[in-house]
Amino acid sequence: MDPFSFKTFLLFVGLIGCGSAQDILPEGPLDAVLSRDIVLKTLLNKPDYSFIIWNYNDGSEQINVATISAIGLKTNPLYEGRVAINATNGFLTLKSLKVDDSGDYSITIVKPDGATITAEIKLRVLKPVSDVIIKSNLPEAVEHNSTVVLTCSAQGSFLKFTWINGSAPIVDDGKRLLIKNEEMTSTLTIKPVLRSDLIGPIFCTAANNLENEKSPAFKLTVHYGPDNVIISPASTPQYIQAGSNFSLACSALSSPPATFSWFQNLKEMEVPGPVLSLGAIEKLGSVKKVQNYTCRAQNAKTLRNLPSPAVSFGVMDAISGTKITGPTVTLIAGNSTANLSCRATAGTVETTTWLKNNKPLLASSRLVFAADMSSMMINPLQGDDTGQYTCQLRNTVTTEQASFKLVVNFGPETALVKGEEAVEVNDPITLTCSASSYPTANFTWKFNGTATDIKTDKYTIDKAKYKNTGTYTCEAHNAVTGKTVTYSHKLSVKEEGALDEGLSDGAIAGIVIAVLVALAAAIGLIIYCRQKVPVESPY
Ligand SMILES: *[C@@H]1O[C@H](CO)[C@@H](O)[C@H](O)[C@H]1NC(C)=O
Ligand SMILES: *[C@@H]1O[C@H](CO)[C@@H](O)[C@H](O)[C@H]1NC(C)=O
Ligand SMILES: *[C@@H]1O[C@H](CO)[C@@H](O)[C@H](O)[C@H]1NC(C)=O
Ligand SMILES: *[C@@H]1O[C@H](CO)[C@@H](O)[C@H](O)[C@H]1NC(C)=O
Ligand SMILES: *[C@@H]1O[C@H](CO)[C@@H](O)[C@H](O)[C@H]1NC(C)=O
Ligand SMILES: *[C@@H]1O[C@H](CO)[C@@H](O)[C@H](O)[C@H]1NC(C)=O
Repeated sequence: MDPFSFKTFLLFVGLIGCGSAQDILPEGPLDAVLSRDIVLKTLLNKPDYSFIIWNYNDGSEQINVATISAIGLKTNPLYEGRVAINATNGFLTLKSLKVDDSGDYSITIVKPDGATITAEIKLRVLKPVSDVIIKSNLPEAVEHNSTVVLTCSAQGSFLKFTWINGSAPIVDDGKRLLIKNEEMTSTLTIKPVLRSDLIGPIFCTAANNLENEKSPAFKLTVHYGPDNVIISPASTPQYIQAGSNFSLACSALSSPPATFSWFQNLKEMEVPGPVLSLGAIEKLGSVKKVQNYTCRAQNAKTLRNLPSPAVSFGVMDAISGTKITGPTVTLIAGNSTANLSCRATAGTVETTTWLKNNKPLLASSRLVFAADMSSMMINPLQGDDTGQYTCQLRNTVTTEQASFKLVVNFGPETALVKGEEAVEVNDPITLTCSASSYPTANFTWKFNGTATDIKTDKYTIDKAKYKNTGTYTCEAHNAVTGKTVTYSHKLSVKEEGALDEGLSDGAIAGIVIAVLVALAAAIGLIIYCRQKVPVESPY
């Protein structure tokens, strides 16, 4: 048979082939990668045959690839060197696959008795998956405004695309996220884009039955905000102390970071940045009254801006340099007047409080406060006005106080001598003189009208003598007030025993009781003994 007629025969056989195809070849299609080798396996196990014929059909024409028989392998010149058929099991090996090798391959087994069985399998030669890459329609996006279209492209055959955000697949939700797949590309449309959409990283994978390739990570900046514009502190006292370390800070969620501007009431202040210091506010003047302050955050990319809630306060000067002025002359009870006045060198005083020895000071017939409480007068002064006087100046932002020590000299009012009026000779004598006075009085003593050299409040004699009998006069003198008071005390010195008073009433009573008890006991004893005298027996 010439090659042509043989081929014709084979084709004929192939066309009329019959038998149970399922037993010969596995289910197709069979995928293989370009340039690689493939083995088209059969399910045969050492079949009995005259010929095994492999044909190829590209859809329009069928050609013989190779045939094996007892004589050996016969190959179509088009496949020279690229094919082999295993004589034992009929496997067809195709080497260095080309795109054109895609198509239907049929195997026909011609039995020695002339019966034939034929089966067919589809082979797909796939281009390798490569160049998987994501591209965006925008270099950067604005949240809520932008429609982002990401295109994933790849090389390869029979590609299937998937999109992944981080590790979760991105699913077409039919609304905001739309995925459209084509042969070589897939587009992901996000309309509108949100800040969380593209943090990813975003990946795209292109795959066919044999291969799977992932794109490099893709990231797109989505600008957003400002949101949550916060001013801190969110509330302040009604007044802030002038010159203090106070400032307002503004923050917002924003990408890129927001820029800030500040407003007093509705008027913009020329203060850039997220911090508004009290110093900058004070420079504006007209800050004493309570005003509203707000900040506004702007985003240069989203072109959105948002104000913060308002904070309101006024600025108040602190009270400082508080001082009391009071009398500098020596003050004498009953004669002197004291004026105390309290002033601060700076700040507005809202309330003034006066204290004496840390207790509130009350007005009285002698003590009068000025209507504005800035001063007070005590007239006339008394000894008990001595003390620590404090004025407290207060406003909303400060409390300051100053003190003044007022000393009122007084007395001595009266003198008093305490001590024995009578002693026995050789007894000790102590006479003590006292007088209320400030400063403390100086004491001198006279005996029977004659000055002594005793200059203390105590007049002591270790052992009294008869000649010590007489009148002791204490003189108390206050050098500041110039006042002197005296007190005379009589003392007599008696002979030894003269002052014995015998047994005291108590002692006498004690003795009487003891005697009565003893007597009762004696009587009792006598009666007892009488009863115990034995009576003589009549027998
Ligand atoms: C043909 O297939 C048989 C059975 O699978 C195997 O043992 C043999 O080595 C194959 N021959 C060739 C030339 O590959
Ligand atoms: C102001 O206060 C802040 C925070 O309390 C502090 O960090 C800063 O050093 C203070 N500045 C001055 C001048 O005291
Ligand atoms: C985004 O949309 C808002 C509201 O429609 C608009 O005010 C803003 O200017 C837009 N931003 C950009 C960058 O187009
Ligand atoms: C007390 O006042 C009277 C009358 O004003 C005066 O004569 C007297 O000297 C004063 N005494 C003292 C101690 O200042
Ligand atoms: C005290 O103040 C009153 C009223 O301001 C004044 O009349 C008086 O002279 C003052 N006295 C002294 C001692 O300064
Ligand atoms: C002092 O006076 C008293 C009575 O006035 C008199 O008894 C006594 O002797 C006098 N003593 C002296 C030491 O003069």
